[in-house]
Amino acid sequence: MKDRILDILRAEDGVVSGARIGSELNTSRVSIWKHIRKLQDLGYVITATPKGYRLEEEPDVLFPWAFGRRQGQIHFFEATDSTMSVARDLARNGSSGFTVVIAEKQLKGRGRLDRQWHSSAGGLYFTIILRPQLPPNQVFRVNFAAALALVRALKQLFDIEAKVKWPNDVLIDTKKVAGMLSEFEADSDRLDYVNLGLGINVNNDIRPFNKTAICLKQLLGRPVERKEVLLAFLTHLEALLDERRLEKIVSLWKQCTVTLGRRVRIVTRQAEFSGRAVDIDPHGALLLALDDGTSTAVHYGDCFHEE
Ligand code: BTN
Repeated sequence: MKDRILDILRAEDGVVSGARIGSELNTSRVSIWKHIRKLQDLGYVITATPKGYRLEEEPDVLFPWAFGRRQGQIHFFEATDSTMSVARDLARNGSSGFTVVIAEKQLKGRGRLDRQWHSSAGGLYFTIILRPQLPPNQVFRVNFAAALALVRALKQLFDIEAKVKWPNDVLIDTKKVAGMLSEFEADSDRLDYVNLGLGINVNNDIRPFNKTAICLKQLLGRPVERKEVLLAFLTHLEALLDERRLEKIVSLWKQCTVTLGRRVRIVTRQAEFSGRAVDIDPHGALLLALDDGTSTAVHYGDCFHEE
């Protein structure tokens, strides 16, 4: 009900009477008033006068009912250890593709290579469960699609030209605006699920001494509605996971990456490689032309652009 009241208030650039909202939603004025009070408690600025209600300002909330047709797919937590753990349990228990677990705050947020991910207030932290029909060695296509989906969402919403850095950071200029973590389970020839966890710097303050990250608020000079970012991301991801586009995902990704053609240093748990990033192999690995004249394929690791 709250989402439908908000839709009516949003559509009207003025005051809407309780009677009109009540008749559109087939309920009493008293019930509308109670919902309005709840919305006010949640931070919506709604002025109430004898003539009716007017929506003045919306808070940046991520409650399921704020997501319209997607609300049934959204699990929202004020705080949880990590959305990756919640999503893993949901995926193992059969939750469908495009289920999204969002947390306002993560107590044990996880980054790549077993690092911690600090979930500062105002960021967008979520894991999406996907069930692509792919063999396990093609899981990288899903990661590439997700990075590209975010690039496209940022272009669509804010006209920002973001880029991808192998394996799947999203950068604006040279600074990281989002990081991604993926987990999957599979049998020998088919993925069961792929969970993609994204941490997007939206309205969270980046510490002044952190020269390698940026948030959207800082870039645009105004706060951003995180829900809009997530919805646009999901729409682009859905389109990119379409079978035919997934076949072309590597060439689409190549058009958007700032890694290929550069000198890079790749640090994995066991080793370090320096060379020129020349291509992506059929399994998503980064092909490096090493300084000693040989080449190698790197499947994971931290990538540092050296020029
Ligand atoms: C990276 O190291 O760049 C990847 C960071 C991924 C962080 C996100 S936040 C939502 C999801 N839950 C986690 O614990 N990690 C991912």
